[in-house]
This record gives sequence, C-alpha cells and structure tokens, in this order.
Amino acid sequence: MSGRSVSSAGMLLVALFAILLCGGTQAWITRRTTATSRFEPAIQVARNGPKMSDRCAVCHPGVCQDIAAAPHNRTLREGNDPDVRARFAGRSFQQGKSGPTVSFEDRAGQLWMKSDSYPDAIRVDWMFGSGRHALTPVSLLVNPHGATELVEGSVSWFHGDLLGATPGANLSKARGMASLGTPHDEATTQDCFGCHVTQLTMDQGRIRPEGLIRGVSCERCHPGGERHAESMEAGGPLLMERWSELSPLESVNRCGECHRRADHLTSQELSPERPVLVRFASIGLAMSPCFLKQDTVKAAGGNVPGGNVANGATRLDCLTCHDPHRSAEEPAEAFVQKCQQCHGTQPNQARVCSAPQSGTNCLPCHMPPVNVTDNLVLTDHWIRIRKPTDPPVAAPKTP
Ligand code: HEC
Ligand code: HEC
Ligand code: HEC
Ligand code: HEC
Ligand code: HEC
Ligand code: HEC
Ligand code: HEC
Repeated sequence: MSGRSVSSAGMLLVALFAILLCGGTQAWITRRTTATSRFEPAIQVARNGPKMSDRCAVCHPGVCQDIAAAPHNRTLREGNDPDVRARFAGRSFQQGKSGPTVSFEDRAGQLWMKSDSYPDAIRVDWMFGSGRHALTPVSLLVNPHGATELVEGSVSWFHGDLLGATPGANLSKARGMASLGTPHDEATTQDCFGCHVTQLTMDQGRIRPEGLIRGVSCERCHPGGERHAESMEAGGPLLMERWSELSPLESVNRCGECHRRADHLTSQELSPERPVLVRFASIGLAMSPCFLKQDTVKAAGGNVPGGNVANGATRLDCLTCHDPHRSAEEPAEAFVQKCQQCHGTQPNQARVCSAPQSGTNCLPCHMPPVNVTDNLVLTDHWIRIRKPTDPPVAAPKTP
C-alpha cells in the first residue's frame, strides 16, 4: 500500500470539496453537501500507470490529436515550460504608484518571481490556466506536517499580453511575502490541482510530481476508459457511457463538476447581476430560459432521441456549442446557427427577437463578453434579455 495515504472516504471528501470550492480567493460559494458526483474522484491516489491517453490514441487518433492542442490539455504547466517563460520572464508589474513591484526572471530555464518588498525570490513551480484568458503562477511549499501547500501568485498574465493583479489579490496593500502571493491550505491546494489535472498522486498529504498528469484528459470525462479499452481490444461490449444518453441537466452538471453547478448555490447567490457568475458557464447556461424551457421546442422533423442541435434536434447543453476536445473559438455564425435552430418562425419553434434592428448576430446582445475583473473577459452564458443592472458588456475581444 505504499503511497496510498488517503482513504477512499477521504478521497470522496476531497472530491466533494473540489466540487464545492470555487477557484481563486473568492470564497463566495456556500459549501453544501448535497452533491452526488458520478465523476471519478478528482484525486486519483497512487496510480502511476501509463498515461491512458496513449492507449486511447490507438483507436481514437483524431480525438487525441484534437485534445493535444486544446485548452483542456493545458490547464496546468510547469514553471520551466518555454511558452510560460516567454510570457513572463523579464517583465514586472506594479499596482498603482505605491504598490510593490513584482517581477519575473528566467534562471537557467526556470521561472522565478520576486518582489521589491521581500528579500527572497520564489520559484514558480506551476502555471495554472491555458493562456487563452489568463495564467496564474503558483509556488509549492511543504507545511510543518509534511503536506503540500501552494502560494497563488499575486500577479497573473492576461489575454492581450498584460500582467495584472490576480483576481482576489489585494496587491496595493500587500507587503513582504504577501506581495508575492496568497498562501492556501492543504485542502484548497488539492482542490486547485484537482480541477486542473487528470491524475494527482498524493503521499501523506504531499503531492508527488512524478504521478501527476497535467491537464484535463480522457479519464476525467470518460471514466472507466481502461475497462472499455480492454473490452474493445478483446472484441467485447462497449463498457463506456455515452454522453448523449445523459439528460441535458446531467450533462451540464458533469461539466459543472469543474465549471461549477447552479444547484451548489443559494438563490441569493444565483443573480445574473453578479459578474463572478460569468466565470461559471455551467451555472449561467442552466439558469437560461432557453435551457429550462428547451422541451417546449421541436425540430422540424421531430427531435432525435439523445440528439443534439448539431444533428437536427433542439437539445441544449454544453455540447450544443462546444466540442470539449477542442478550443471554444469559432466564428460567431456557428453559434448563431444554434440559436436559430430553436428560435424561428416555424410552428413549435421559440419566439424570434422582438427588438428592432436586432441583426443576425445574437451574441453581443444576449451572450456577450463581460469583464469578470479588470483584465479577465469571459462569455456570459446566462442567455437572457439583459437589464441595465447587469454587468456591462466588455469591449469587443482583440484577436
Ligand atoms: C471546481 C474546480 C476548480 C477549482 C477548485 C479551481 N479551478 Fe481554476 N479553473 C476551473 C475552470 C473550470 C476554469 C475555466 C473556467 C474559468 O475561467 O473559470 C478555470 C480557470 C482557471 C484559470 C484561467 C483563468 C480563467 O479564469 O480562465 C486559472 C489561472 C485558474 N483556474 C487557477 C486556479 C487556482 C490557482 C485555483 C486554486 C486557488 C483554482 N484555479 C481552482 C476550475 C477550477
Ligand atoms: C481497441 C480499440 C479501442 C481503444 C483502445 C479505446 N477505444 Fe473507445 N471505442 C472503441 C470503439 C470501437 C468504440 C465504438 C464506437 C461506436 O460504437 O460509436 C469506442 C467508443 C468510445 C466512446 C463512446 C463514444 C460515444 O458514442 O459516445 C468513448 C467516449 C470512448 N470510446 C473513449 C475511449 C477512451 C477514453 C479510451 C482510452 C482510455 C478508449 N476509448 C480506448 C475502440 C477503442
Ligand atoms: C476536470 C475539470 C474539468 C471538466 C470535467 C471539464 N472542464 Fe472544461 N475546463 C476546465 C479548465 C480548468 C479549463 C480552463 C482552461 C483554460 O485555462 O483556458 C476549461 C476550459 C473549458 C473551455 C474553454 C476552452 C477555450 O477555448 O477557452 C470549454 C469550452 C470547456 N472547458 C468546456 C467543457 C465541457 C463542455 C465540459 C464537459 C463535457 C468540460 N469543459 C468539463 C476544467 C474542466
Ligand atoms: C472535458 C471533457 C472531455 C475530455 C477531456 C475528453 N472527452 Fe471525449 N467526449 C466528451 C464528450 C462530452 C463527448 C460527447 C460529445 C458529443 O456527444 O457531442 C465525447 C466524445 C468522445 C468520443 C466519441 C465522439 C467522437 O468525437 O469521436 C470519443 C471516441 C472520445 N470522446 C474519446 C476521448 C479521448 C480518447 C479523450 C482523451 C484524449 C477524450 N475523449 C477526452 C468529453 C471529453
Ligand atoms: C434548445 C433550444 C434553444 C436554443 C438552442 C436557444 N434558445 Fe433561446 N430560448 C429557447 C426557449 C424555449 C425560450 C423560452 C421561449 C419562450 O419563453 O417562449 C428561449 C428564450 C430566449 C430569450 C428570452 C429570454 C428572456 O430573458 O426572457 C432570448 C433572449 C433567447 N432565448 C436568445 C437565444 C440566443 C441568443 C440563443 C443562441 C445563443 C438561444 N436563445 C438559443 C430555446 C432555445
Ligand atoms: C449557445 C452556445 C453556447 C453554449 C450552449 C455553451 N457555450 Fe460556452 N461559449 C459560447 C461562446 C459564443 C463562447 C465564446 C467563444 C469565443 O471566445 O470565441 C464560449 C466560450 C466558453 C468558454 C471560454 C471562456 C469564455 O467564457 O469565453 C468556456 C469555459 C465555456 N464556453 C464553457 C461552456 C460550458 C461549460 C458550457 C455548458 C454549460 C457552455 N460553454 C455552453 C457559446 C456557448
Ligand atoms: C441589438 C441587440 C440584439 C440583437 C442583435 C438580438 N437581440 Fe434579441 N432582444 C434584444 C432586446 C433588447 C430584447 C428585448 C426587447 C423587448 O423588450 O421587447 C430582445 C428580445 C429577444 C427575445 C424575446 C422575445 C419576446 O417576444 O419576448 C428573444 C427570443 C430574442 N431576443 C432572441 C434573439 C435571437 C435568437 C437573436 C439573434 C438571431 C437576437 N435576439 C438578436 C436585443 C437583441
């Protein structure tokens, strides 16, 4: 049992917390224990087998190639990653005129961060985020009990090639070590890694880097891959769940184990006026009238059971608009075509837009980019008629 230090009950608890906790330092989610996850636990203890994706690639080469280039594959990288170093090394950021200056340097192929308010530089062990929207540096420490804890860097990289304060960091007042980052306890540390990895191997509360599989890969969304691969190799049954057999809510909630779930929030927390909710696509979508009333619309030839908008049905979940094996980036028309599948003038379709001069691109008015923080712009997935009290629409994205 060497290396197996967390009991399965412990694993479940850790997984539950990973589900309930929100990222960063914004502790705004009420922890409740009603969640029942059908996902494999976030933390896979002491499994140092070969990377499953290598095995899947034998029979599913196309999907594996797609994932290799997708943001899901780059949710976590090492501090010596060349792309990571290129975005940070030799740069610095100062909050206001009196805040500390935090700077980054490349020392023999490894990224370090330092502050003019603290004597020692600290090593950037990991970089969270794919770099599509943001990258946050993280340093690891070992606490007195031998467990791994992380320091979340106070300065992050943002889309547009900007450095700025990490969401939640109070950089203008920070001095000393706090100017470099915010320390997180053992549980939060495991949560952060839990949503950004495929496998995390722990030994007495300590992360074992050799067992860590970076990025969100096959097993996180297709549990039981090993069993399926063996069965396929032996010419046996599929032994693999099809996502298309899940209900739209089950499907959205599964993505929501990481992208967050509406049923984990209280009704007060579920207000479309809160910019923080824009970070959590699966909360917004699940609250949209389009999602809630999707059963009232029908495709021209009737709905294909388990089918998706893409193949003529009117089902709405994440997969209507995204292939999770690829980037979300698509021309606006690709998304608008999904809206028009349901919204039209045919019998059984949902109403058409009542606004004058609404044009054809629905997104800027009903699904716009919104500033979550000064530098972080994400897409508001709560499709609705927007009110003046809603978070303002961000300036159009630069490529
Ligand atoms: C419950 C799962 C979960 C936890 C816990 C979590 N993250 Fe994330 N993280 C996500 C998801 C999903 C995204 C992509 C959606 C988004 O932007 O929030 C993301 C995105 C990010 C990004 C990219 C910026 C962005 O917002 O797109 C960074 C950086 C990041 N997380 C860092 C962290 C750090 C540091 C921690 C721990 C303090 C953490 N995360 C904890 C799920 C999680
Ligand atoms: C020996 C070949 C083989 C290997 C190895 C293999 N698969 Fe498959 N897989 C198949 C076949 C054949 C199907 C059935 C295709 C169908 O019926 O649509 C399938 C179907 C699937 C499906 C279901 C798709 C759907 O219709 O919803 C998923 C998901 C999947 N595989 C994932 C994986 C993952 C993850 C791995 C690696 C752990 C893997 N497979 C390894 C052959 C294989
Ligand atoms: C194990 C956690 C996890 C699960 C499960 C998960 N995601 Fe993600 N997802 C993330 C993280 C972390 C990111 C942030 C990547 C980044 O920093 O850009 C992300 C990013 C994305 C993006 C943004 C890609 C881009 O181009 O910016 C989309 C779209 C997405 N996820 C959709 C899904 C869908 C759909 C599902 C369910 C089928 C899903 N995710 C399940 C963790 C997860
Ligand atoms: C973020 C979640 C996520 C990850 C990571 C992921 N998948 Fe999938 N995969 C899905 C979902 C959801 C579907 C169903 C898509 C649909 O029905 O439109 C799917 C469909 C599939 C299919 C059948 C349809 C197709 O596109 O051929 C195969 C095969 C598959 N995945 C294999 C893999 C393999 C292999 C990996 C790892 C390299 C992987 N997936 C990683 C979520 C994921
Ligand atoms: C699966 C079908 C479906 C899809 C796809 C869909 N909608 Fe809807 N939408 C509906 C239904 C059903 C309603 C409720 C209609 C009603 O009340 O008559 C609705 C309501 C709306 C409303 C009114 C919401 C409110 O606040 O009252 C807007 C705006 C809207 N949709 C825009 C869009 C846009 C934009 C898209 C694409 C990004 C989209 N919808 C995609 C089915 C869909
Ligand atoms: C009606 C279409 C639609 C649906 C359904 C949808 N998205 Fe998106 N999503 C978008 C658009 C549009 C973008 C912006 C794409 C771009 O940047 O080019 C986006 C972007 C994203 C991003 C990147 C960060 C951001 O906010 O720009 C994430 C993460 C994401 N979606 C997750 C999800 C998840 C999880 C679900 C299911 C709960 C989902 N989306 C369902 C249309 C959709
Ligand atoms: C220029 C901004 C704009 C664009 C573009 C736009 N809408 Fe709207 N839409 C609005 C506004 C504002 C309202 C509320 C009008 C009102 O109160 O009568 C609205 C109302 C709606 C409604 C509710 C109709 C009703 O009778 O209650 C639906 C559905 C809708 N839009 C769908 C869409 C779809 C689908 C598209 C893309 C084909 C689209 N909109 C494009 C601004 C826009």
